[in-house]
Amino acid sequence: MESLALNRAFWRGRRVFVTGHTGFKGAWLLLMLRELGAEAHGFSLPPPTGPSMFALLGLQRYCRHAVGDIRDRDGLSAALAEARPEVVLHMAAQPLVRASYDDPVVTYATNVMGTVHLLDACRHEAGVRSVVAITTDKVYDNVGWVWGYRENDRLGGTDPYSNSKAACELAIDSYRRSFFPPAKRDVHGVGLASARAGNVIGGGDFAVDRLVPDALRAFAAGEPLMIRNPLSVRPWQHVMEPLAGYLLLAERLFDDGAFATGWNFGPRTDESAPVKDVADRLAAHWGEGASWAQDPAEHPHEAATLKLDPTKARLELGWAPRLALDDALRLTAEWYRAWARGEDLLAVSERQLRAYMG
Ligand SMILES: NC(=O)c1ccc[n+]([C@@H]2O[C@H](COP(=O)([O-])OP(=O)(O)OC[C@H]3O[C@@H](n4cnc5c(N)ncnc54)[C@H](O)[C@@H]3O)[C@@H](O)[C@H]2O)c1
Repeated sequence: MESLALNRAFWRGRRVFVTGHTGFKGAWLLLMLRELGAEAHGFSLPPPTGPSMFALLGLQRYCRHAVGDIRDRDGLSAALAEARPEVVLHMAAQPLVRASYDDPVVTYATNVMGTVHLLDACRHEAGVRSVVAITTDKVYDNVGWVWGYRENDRLGGTDPYSNSKAACELAIDSYRRSFFPPAKRDVHGVGLASARAGNVIGGGDFAVDRLVPDALRAFAAGEPLMIRNPLSVRPWQHVMEPLAGYLLLAERLFDDGAFATGWNFGPRTDESAPVKDVADRLAAHWGEGASWAQDPAEHPHEAATLKLDPTKARLELGWAPRLALDDALRLTAEWYRAWARGEDLLAVSERQLRAYMG
C-alpha cells in the first residue's frame, strides 16, 4: 500500500473540534487524531449505542470530552469557544434512515439546525480555519441510474434522513457564500467544505438497522442474518478510508479556499456491491456456518442502487481508497471476533489503524 497523503507535521499539536466523537466514526477518528498527535476536543451526546466503541476502548482519555447537544446553540457555542480549535470536523447527527421515519422532527432538528448552530458558532470563533461538515452519499436525488453520483448532481432525498442531509448541504452552501466566501478568505479566515462518504463498515459499529452490526450480532448468536433488500447496491468502504479523506480535506482547506466545496469519498464506482455479496463475504470471514436469509416483512422505501463517483477527490485531493472490499470485510470480522472473545479492543483497533496509516 502507498503511504497516506496526510502530513503528520500539520496535525501534530493541532487543535481539532469533533462533534459526534462518541459514535462509530467518531471513535475511529479519535484514534486517528491520536496517532497523528493532534489535540482532539469532542462534543456529543453520550454514545448512541450500548456497547459502544467509545466506551469499550476508553476513548475519553484520547480527547477533551464534552457531553452536549448540537440542538443547544448556546451550549455548542460555549464548547467551541472553550476549545479554540483551528480545525472543525462535524459528524454529530441522527444518521439512520429507519429512525428518521420514526422521528423525522428529531432528525431534521439534529441534522439541519445542529449543523446551522455549528456553522454559526464558527462564524464567531476567531482562529477556526478548516471546517469539514460530514453529510452522506444519500444527499443526491436518487434517480435510480447505474452511474456514480458526482458532486454537481442534483441534491434530493426521499426519506427524512437523506433529505435532512441534503438540506444540510444547502445550509452549508449558504454559509459558504454568505459568510465564508473563498474569495474573501483573508477577511474571515474560514474554509468550509462538505464531505459525502459511502456506506461505512468496520469494527465498532453497534447501531441497529445497519447491515454489518446486524450481521455480526446474528453470527455471534449463531442465527442467520435477516436481510431486507439483498439486491440493493451500496458504495461500501472501511471507515478509515473516508476519515483519512476528511483529514486530507481539512489539511488542504487550511490555506487554500479552492477546496471549499463538496467532496465525495467512496470506493471506485465499479466496486460498489449488492448487500448479498457483502453478507456472503462477511459470513465466509466469520466461518462457523454463518448465513443470511431474506426478511419477508414489509419495509419503508430505500433506494435500490446508490453509487458515488470519487474521481474529484482522487484527482484534486490526491485521496484514493486503499482497501479492497474483501480486506475491509476481513478487518471488520476480525474486530468483532476479538470483541466476542473479550480481547483487548484498543490494541486490535490501533493495530488495524497503524497498518492502514503506514
Ligand atoms: N455510518 C455510515 O455508513 C455513514 C455513511 C455516510 C455518512 N455518515 C455520517 O457520518 C456521521 C457519523 O456517523 P456514525 O455512523 O458515526 O453515527 P453514530 O450514530 O455512530 O454517531 C453519531 C454521533 O452523533 C452524536 N449525536 C447524535 N445526536 C446528537 C445531538 N443532538 N447532539 C450532539 N451529538 C449528537 C452521537 O452521540 C454520536 O456521537 C453522521 O453525520 C452520519 O450521517 C455515516
